[in-house]
Amino acid sequence: MAGGRFSPALLVLLCHVLFGSSSFQPALVLDMAKILLDNYCFPENLVGMQEAIQQAINSGEILKISDRKTLASVLTVGVQGALNDPRLTVSFEPNFVPVMPPALPSLPTEQLIRLVRNSVKLEVLENNVGYLRIDQIIGEETAAKLGPLLRDNVWNKVANTSSLIFDLRYSTAGELSGVPFIISYFSDPEPLIHIDTVFDRPSNTTKELWTMSSIMGERYGKRKDLIVLTSKRTMGAAEAVAYTLKHLKRANIVGERSAGGSVKVEKIRIGDSGFYITIPVARSVNPITGQSWEVSGVSPSVNINAKEAVANAQNLLAVRSAIPRAIQSVSDIIRQYYSFTDRVPAFLQHLESTDFFSVISEEDLANKLNNELQSVSEDPRLMIKLTQDHPVIIEEDFEPENIPGDPAFLRNLVDTVFKVRILTGNTGYLRFDKFGDVSVMAKLGEQIAQKIWEALKDTENLIIDLRYNTGGSSASMGILLSFLQDPSQQFHFFTIYDRIQNTTTEFNTLSGLLGPPYGSKRGVYILTSHYTASAGEEFAYLMQSLHRGTLIGEITSGTLMHSKSFQVEDTDIVITVPFINFIDNNGECWLGGVLGSYMLGEKTIEQGSESERRASLFILTDLGYHLC
Ligand SMILES: *[C@@H]1O[C@H](CO)[C@@H](O)[C@H](O)[C@H]1NC(C)=O
Ligand SMILES: *[C@@H]1O[C@H](CO)[C@@H](O)[C@H](O)[C@H]1NC(C)=O
Ligand SMILES: *[C@@H]1O[C@H](CO)[C@@H](O)[C@H](O)[C@H]1NC(C)=O
Repeated sequence: MAGGRFSPALLVLLCHVLFGSSSFQPALVLDMAKILLDNYCFPENLVGMQEAIQQAINSGEILKISDRKTLASVLTVGVQGALNDPRLTVSFEPNFVPVMPPALPSLPTEQLIRLVRNSVKLEVLENNVGYLRIDQIIGEETAAKLGPLLRDNVWNKVANTSSLIFDLRYSTAGELSGVPFIISYFSDPEPLIHIDTVFDRPSNTTKELWTMSSIMGERYGKRKDLIVLTSKRTMGAAEAVAYTLKHLKRANIVGERSAGGSVKVEKIRIGDSGFYITIPVARSVNPITGQSWEVSGVSPSVNINAKEAVANAQNLLAVRSAIPRAIQSVSDIIRQYYSFTDRVPAFLQHLESTDFFSVISEEDLANKLNNELQSVSEDPRLMIKLTQDHPVIIEEDFEPENIPGDPAFLRNLVDTVFKVRILTGNTGYLRFDKFGDVSVMAKLGEQIAQKIWEALKDTENLIIDLRYNTGGSSASMGILLSFLQDPSQQFHFFTIYDRIQNTTTEFNTLSGLLGPPYGSKRGVYILTSHYTASAGEEFAYLMQSLHRGTLIGEITSGTLMHSKSFQVEDTDIVITVPFINFIDNNGECWLGGVLGSYMLGEKTIEQGSESERRASLFILTDLGYHLC
């Protein structure tokens, strides 16, 4: 983009070139400089140019170029380099005859109508998606002449569509004065919006373009979705339209980066030589970006081959049309299930005021929703993800099983679920991989007493292996915790709030345990791994928080379950909402997250206590290390 400061060094070189050519007198260099000074749209970049030229004239080194076309191209390189603007060119065209295209407004109305018919195409596609292609943006004077015709045949018809694909891929010509109408059509009447500031150097005037408070016909307004298609040929006024709509966040742009034209370029003869200089004489500044579409073009939000732009825009509109329903669905799910009921109103309000303009794919939508959700809730359990390969509904809670009362069957079940051993050094070992439902555990009470607590009652220490425990019912933790405390004392272990039942349940020391309690005096070591999840983690967490156990092993998985997952209306987006809050013995709500355990390797085995040593050795042996 033109904007770098004038570089005297390059121009000095340029002057040396000029004087070397016998066909080009020093006076003509000054003529060229004068033309630039009077016409170039970045006059601030010309500061110092005349002095530099004068200096070059006074010094005397000369390069010889006798061919005028070569000279013209050398001049072009020099001027472009000095002013950092690729639009400046010098040409040698002794036979050049300027052709002025007839001004549109002066054409007979019949001809104007024909022209508009040929440059405007309107269709209504599936789902009431409008498709409007305009190949030439007509200026305000022409528009005024054809007003009622355009209103009835174009704008009012477009206004009835639900969303619009505005195709500017073939729009290579047009007038900037037509831009305010188009932007106004896609905006509300109030407030007026400053669209563009155009500086015209020859007249040394600056003109601001604003939206119009009233336009002929119905507006499209700013709420319905709008996609503008561009190609690398889209140029001039059409670029101004695309650039403005993009930066007003009114339209997503689909297609190719546009041509990067200019507001106005003129070709001016240098003196009465056959040399001409082409100069951009006006420039546009967008009030939002402080920059312009000129030279660099408009970059699309979806960069895609222009040929595929219509299909892509249709897909994009389909994605975007699902956004309101998806937001509604997420709001409803959260209102109905989220366990932190006090955080729900703030969340819903936040969602309502969030701008989803930049969302151009379902993945974007999932990420955006997840980020918004996280920023308000600060709850890592609440998640939104795009999951094409997950089942539609994932139930994370533990469903109680229907268990027959036959004692042999129950014994068999307990044998399968609980692994109990006595290790060397009279250390008890207990492993189970899921916390059963309370009603199931109650049914198994006698069998568990036999299998676990009778078997372990004389051991000196106990290892509880949760390395493969992935959760289950938190409520049944109370039973296990009760066995590990002094039965004569009453403890508050934890509290569970269940949003679906809308119940708060406290879990305290249970009385009337079946089987001998292990009590509070003997050492308990909890083994964890990165698989340990949900209720498994909660149990490990509580044992630590109750100062009743030492954790040994790996950091846990950090996945608290107690959540339900739902597919968000018509999308591949899945929301996971926790409906249970787990509140520890200190009244803190634990949101999961990784549980730092006493890691193997952090302390050497020799440094630990004898029981820690045994628990650690157990892990190592179990993992296949053979220690002597
Ligand atoms: C737009 O729709 C309305 C109601 O659906 C209808 O009355 C009107 O004629 C339509 N206008 C055009 C230009 O199709
Ligand atoms: C252009 O106009 C501004 C004021 O609008 C003035 O300060 C400046 O001198 C003018 N420049 C020229 C070259 O006439
Ligand atoms: C939950 O229960 C409490 C009373 O225990 C009641 O005040 C509240 O409205 C209930 N909430 C819902 C969402 O049903």
